[in-house]
Amino acid sequence: MRTWVAPGRVNIIGEHTDYNDGYVLPIALPLVVECAASVRADGNVRVVSRQRPDETVLVGVGELAAQRDRVPGWSRYPLGVVAEFVRRGHAIGGVDLALDGAVPIGAGLSSSAALSCAVAIALRDLFAPTVTDRELIEVARAAENDYVGAPTGLLDQSASIMCTAGHALFLDVRRFAASDDANAVAHEQIPFDLARFGLELLVIDTGQPHEHVDGGYAERRAQCEAAAAQLGVPALRDVDSVAALDRISDDVLRRRARHVVTENARVLSVAKRLRSGADPRAIGPILTEGHASLRDDFEVSTPALDAAADAAVAAGAHGARMVGGGFGGSVIALVDREHTDAVVAAVRNRFADAGFAEPRTFVVGPAAGAHRAD
Ligand code: GLA
Repeated sequence: MRTWVAPGRVNIIGEHTDYNDGYVLPIALPLVVECAASVRADGNVRVVSRQRPDETVLVGVGELAAQRDRVPGWSRYPLGVVAEFVRRGHAIGGVDLALDGAVPIGAGLSSSAALSCAVAIALRDLFAPTVTDRELIEVARAAENDYVGAPTGLLDQSASIMCTAGHALFLDVRRFAASDDANAVAHEQIPFDLARFGLELLVIDTGQPHEHVDGGYAERRAQCEAAAAQLGVPALRDVDSVAALDRISDDVLRRRARHVVTENARVLSVAKRLRSGADPRAIGPILTEGHASLRDDFEVSTPALDAAADAAVAAGAHGARMVGGGFGGSVIALVDREHTDAVVAAVRNRFADAGFAEPRTFVVGPAAGAHRAD
């Protein structure tokens, strides 16, 4: 058996912009899902997971679609990836997959994309070496959309496959999805070196899990599509001024669209600052604005996420925002290294006062994307 790994991610800025054809700016986390894999000759897929020691899943390659509703939920991610390779015409005569995940589940850190991407990269090496990175991202996303039933965009899978150590990945999702060449200018690796400036990126996991197969995420997508339709544009990416949104009569739709339009502008502005090599402290207030927009206009924050972001900024963080789809999960805060402990203590106190469970906190830096580990 050989082993492949794929990381979770945090998005520095650009939330709920991916499925609106917009911009994102994630980094890969130093937390990975490991997939040990080997070829089987008997036409079966066998999946085990260190996190589910009591469940071994065995399904015939030809039975993947039919068995979808009978297999355990967690196994739909790896099985969905196998099913998608098969659907695309790759011959898979059977495979053994042994999984071990260190990305916290439901924390908004993309444990699910890390899982699908670890399996996808393993299957590529074993069965389909000509598959490009962009196709691999599409395979992992299709597995989540179609087999698992979570209607996500491609932020998480792109981050897990394409991020590089020491960099944030700027991705123009529309151009990336449309281009035939994954190396086209649709993406750019922007140096993101916080240590040089005495800074740290703190992740605060509220411990309140979220699920994208639930209705809130799909409802936001539908609202964005409805807003774009009212404006007569293919996607909200095509709106570049907030003033243009006055034509949307419904207040909720207008606010959803305003988040996307202002968030795309925030991604461009953060990317510009980082690209110029400026002190990253300058992006802090933009992150905090992004949180307010997700809280007030997009309404995907929670009291615990708000408390974490507020307490971090009040204790001296340069900026803080919830990350991922929302409705639970984590906050990131940009902090001076010497203030990290004080910020953690302030967030803990705020959580204790509010009666929330103690949050989990850790410092992260931009790590490598998916790769073979041995
Ligand atoms: C989830 C989805 C992504 C993206 C984010 C919000 O993580 O999987 O595609 O839409 O939410 O930015």
